[in-house]
Amino acid sequence: EQNAYMEDIERLFTIDTDYLIKIKDHFLKEMDKGLNHDNQTLAMIPSYVEGRLTGHEKGHYLALDLGGTNLRVVLVTLEGQGKFKTISTKARVSEDLKTGPMRNLCEYIADCIDKFLTEQGLENSEEHLPLGYTFSFPVLQSKVGFNCTGAIGKDPVLLLQDALLRKHVPVKITALVNDTVGTLLSNAYQKPDTVAGLILGTGSNGAYVEKIARIGKWKHPTTTSDEMVINMEFGAFDNEKVILPVTRFDNKLDRKSINPHYQTFEKLVSGMYLGEVVRNVITDMMDRNLLFGHQQYTERISSHYRFETSYMSSIEEDASSDLAAVRDILDTDLNLVNVDLVELKIVKRICQLVGTRAARLAAVAIVGILSHADHLHSAVDVGIDGSLFEFYPSFEARIYEAMAELMPNCAHGIRDTIRLGLARDGSGVGAALTACVADKMLRSK
Ligand code: BG6
Repeated sequence: EQNAYMEDIERLFTIDTDYLIKIKDHFLKEMDKGLNHDNQTLAMIPSYVEGRLTGHEKGHYLALDLGGTNLRVVLVTLEGQGKFKTISTKARVSEDLKTGPMRNLCEYIADCIDKFLTEQGLENSEEHLPLGYTFSFPVLQSKVGFNCTGAIGKDPVLLLQDALLRKHVPVKITALVNDTVGTLLSNAYQKPDTVAGLILGTGSNGAYVEKIARIGKWKHPTTTSDEMVINMEFGAFDNEKVILPVTRFDNKLDRKSINPHYQTFEKLVSGMYLGEVVRNVITDMMDRNLLFGHQQYTERISSHYRFETSYMSSIEEDASSDLAAVRDILDTDLNLVNVDLVELKIVKRICQLVGTRAARLAAVAIVGILSHADHLHSAVDVGIDGSLFEFYPSFEARIYEAMAELMPNCAHGIRDTIRLGLARDGSGVGAALTACVADKMLRSK
């Protein structure tokens, strides 16, 4: 019975090459819809960032990253030739500031920037320093803990710019930055053949360089380039569930999530969810008496999101014959004891299946982007940020494997054709670089 169950699980979680191609074809259609019409599943948001970086830009640029608990100010000094230096500071955002008047929050941020510039000897800078502003969390939504009064309907950039002006801080906010766009640009400064940036971390999303002529819904004149960076919001791909092979375990996760029926692709691909899918399979097997004997459910294995995605990478990394690391995680982290070797192998296999499916779907997004944007004539770079890509050891290899299946003509040289690279800090370095591009555009007007 256990074997039959596992065979079924293998089948449910495996996406073969033919089906990967089908998903990719659907992805391409959805990209087109989003580029040509508003309010589509793939939002395909024009970022206003025209063109790319050459790596020759120079000067001081700032980034402001407002997250859930901290705010971070980063100074990026571009030295040309793809080289740059960064220095940053962090400050806590108190509950009072998060829930009080927006004006107070903006004044606090302006003071932090002022103090930082003084420390760096830039407080009297003659030219206003361009700043890129990233909300790692949607600041104006009460859900995530920020609920400032006097902010609704007001442009957060203008509110902050006003505070900076009042305090004579020589800074101009030139860009409101999405972290995938930042990831793309930070990779591009060092690798000018960069055409896309992805976040494969807690969540997943991507941005890429598109020809403006192909963005049917873009009605504005352009200034400096015939290309624009598009923030795809691809976590929402296939919210209709017409093509993605969602299983009952995914549906369970979706139903109990804070956003049922939304972010379907993201729920199959990102770090926030993978462990929970594994937990759903394990508990289903326990429900059927197919795993861990007649052991009582422990509180931990019964708790939502208690099986962390980081366990999956540790479990997968254990190549020992007795799977001691797997046993240790089950014991120490989940209080499951007296597990036999067959069961350890099953747990490891479930992790492999869920992790592999995620990487193969990430590959669909990458190949989809590159083939749509017609970037596959020569070798290209793709910058990727996020804990999943950085810390899940087999993730990258699996992406390459699936990309080779999707592009049989380049299968042998896939690593030279599509060069994936870790591009850290889209909301810091990337945001400052976005401010740099925006500044160039302003000057050329
Ligand atoms: C950081 C970026 O390096 O990575 C953020 O600065 C991004 O903008 C984050 O959102 C994603 O990684 P994770 O794994 O923390 O979600």
